[in-house]
Amino acid sequence: MANTPMGTKTIVENVFWVGVKDLNRRLFDGLIPLPHGTSYNAYLVVGSEKTALIDTVNPGFENELVDKVSQHADPAKLDYIVMNHAEPDHANACSHMLSLAKDAKLVTSAKGKEAAMMYFGVPDDRIMVVDESSSIDLGGKTLKFVDAPWLHWPETIFTYVPEDRILFPCDFFGSHIAYGEFYADEFGNGHTLELAKLYFAEIMMPFRKPSMKAIEKVKALDPKIIAPSHGVMYREPKLIIDAYTDWAGEKMKKKVLIAYVSMWGRTERMVKVLKESLIHKGIEVQAFDLTAMGIGEVAKQLVDSPVVVIAAPTVLGGVHPVAAYAALLTKTLRAPTKYAAILSSHGWSGGAVKQLGELLGGMKIEMLDVVDVKGPANDEEIQRILKLADTIEGKLAEFT
Ligand code: FEO
Repeated sequence: MANTPMGTKTIVENVFWVGVKDLNRRLFDGLIPLPHGTSYNAYLVVGSEKTALIDTVNPGFENELVDKVSQHADPAKLDYIVMNHAEPDHANACSHMLSLAKDAKLVTSAKGKEAAMMYFGVPDDRIMVVDESSSIDLGGKTLKFVDAPWLHWPETIFTYVPEDRILFPCDFFGSHIAYGEFYADEFGNGHTLELAKLYFAEIMMPFRKPSMKAIEKVKALDPKIIAPSHGVMYREPKLIIDAYTDWAGEKMKKKVLIAYVSMWGRTERMVKVLKESLIHKGIEVQAFDLTAMGIGEVAKQLVDSPVVVIAAPTVLGGVHPVAAYAALLTKTLRAPTKYAAILSSHGWSGGAVKQLGELLGGMKIEMLDVVDVKGPANDEEIQRILKLADTIEGKLAEFT
């Protein structure tokens, strides 16, 4: 299908991408680095009788959305604006579109209705509540809905057009990419999956159980195209469905993630001893100096690393703050980590280990060992790190 002029994209006949590619955005939620920018994918479904806009765009891009919709339909005559999810990057412009399309209804879940009224002041009589039994006939195209709560907010739904077998799952299956490509296979499936995994880690990893439920529903629909609200679309949906099945299903690898920070090389030396021993045993090691590597990479490795080692010195009676952030992130993202270890060094007093223990407290993690040394690690302490490598090897025997 040819590109439609002036920046929109025809997906199938009378279904158009009318979103925005935001190459300049560098941070999401004040937390997540966006090295490739992101896109806010809105879609227009034009039936013979009625027209629906599925999701909108980030605040500041309302005019671009209106321009793009105008290429295929009169924005003032939209019949439905579907709000799959209430986060402002997709929902904030709903109010603007409703102000243009005076007769349009905002279509959303019951919880979405509460959110639309609370966040955006949408009046009750402008909202149509739908669930999985609902069906909206546009004329030759039908909108069906999938309940997908907690992906990643409580109100989330997916929209499905059965005639074209296109699924619009909003954030689910998303990725932060703003480049020119529209489809994963154009961008490169391998590269796409790496970015989708990063996105999964930061957004969906805490919600693995709801994700698994949604994946089963998506498989039952057997879509031909998956069109998320960030990044590329999938015209070979099996690629992203299989990947999500692995990630949400906690299919992990024979791998160790080491997140470390070192001030004068003592902690880093301990990391090197452990890393080299593990590599020698044939175990994949992803070691990140937290001062040089974005926290997103750490989050991504959490998805399929059964073992996490945090290595950091004591600073002013507590853990180095950079490592504290990594530990807090591991807990906040509810990583599927099974085993952990701590390597630490201190001068005149400790404190890092106690604080790391507190930060990781409450997680269902088996702590394999804590090696906290005063000054440089001595021979006995190096032997203990080598023993830790043996222990990790044993724990990873079940993984491939
Ligand atoms: Fe892309 Fe949860 O908003």
